[in-house]
Amino acid sequence: MGDVAGRRVLVLGGSSGIGLATARLARDQGAHVAITGRHQGRLDAARARTTGLEAFLGDMTSEADVADAFRRFGAVDHVFLAGGGALFGNVVDLPDEKIDGLIRERIWAPVYVARCAAQHVRAGHMKSGSITLMSGALASRVMAGAAIKHAILCATEGLVRGLALEMAPLRVNAVAPGYTRTPAFESLLGDDPEAEIVRMSANLPLKRIGRAEEVAQAVLALMTNDFINGEVLHTDGAGRFVAPALRLR
Ligand SMILES: NC(=O)c1ccc[n+]([C@@H]2O[C@H](COP(=O)([O-])OP(=O)(O)OC[C@H]3O[C@@H](n4cnc5c(N)ncnc54)[C@H](OP(=O)(O)O)[C@@H]3O)[C@@H](O)[C@H]2O)c1
Repeated sequence: MGDVAGRRVLVLGGSSGIGLATARLARDQGAHVAITGRHQGRLDAARARTTGLEAFLGDMTSEADVADAFRRFGAVDHVFLAGGGALFGNVVDLPDEKIDGLIRERIWAPVYVARCAAQHVRAGHMKSGSITLMSGALASRVMAGAAIKHAILCATEGLVRGLALEMAPLRVNAVAPGYTRTPAFESLLGDDPEAEIVRMSANLPLKRIGRAEEVAQAVLALMTNDFINGEVLHTDGAGRFVAPALRLR
């Protein structure tokens, strides 16, 4: 089992939340790290809080932007597709563009990364290493208002298993967080996020929601264990086995 010291880690969607926590942990462990995001201000703020990161403006749902991030970073060992947003709503109510957006984040972005990584392997810029996709506890259970998310995350996990066979010598895995405290998660909780987190925690097996740093640890485990391939690693404290506590607004 290796570590990330001296390795090159690219985090797509790394200016906040789980992506930034992963970038920070990899940097702390001696990796050379680059993050991407769609907003320069958020990238600048992330770099101000976390020194030693490279940052490239780009949308991971754009093939040109993904290729640009690979080109600018150069040699790369590990890629984590951390970016994305929330999508809730009943199937019949969701506009096409919202559904397309999630498909772009959770299916097309991995396809673009796989294409770039394959080119990097052929060019000798990526000799071994890994790609880690973002799934979520909602792949393992369904709730009203999250049918589309459930369906697309199931597809993401299917893609992990197929890419694990196709991308050798690279390994392909996914992390599947449950409720994890991040800026995006807090924005779902209404006017009193603290009270809502206390309420939700009571329903969870470990009586708390997750921390972004805990997801980051799992991502680094997937990056550094050279025999984990095609795996989905859950960081939800077994929350996926109990009734959902998130109140959709
Ligand atoms: N937090 C949770 O409880 C939880 C649980 C399971 C799964 N997830 C999933 O994990 C992902 C990240 O969530 P988070 O809570 O860490 O959110 P967050 O704090 O909002 O961070 C999202 C990051 O991704 C970037 N981003 C979003 N869309 C992007 C795109 N198309 N291209 C490049 N960068 C993009 C954002 O920056 P810009 O907006 O500037 O691009 C930001 O840096 C989401 O897909 C979410 O569904 C989260």
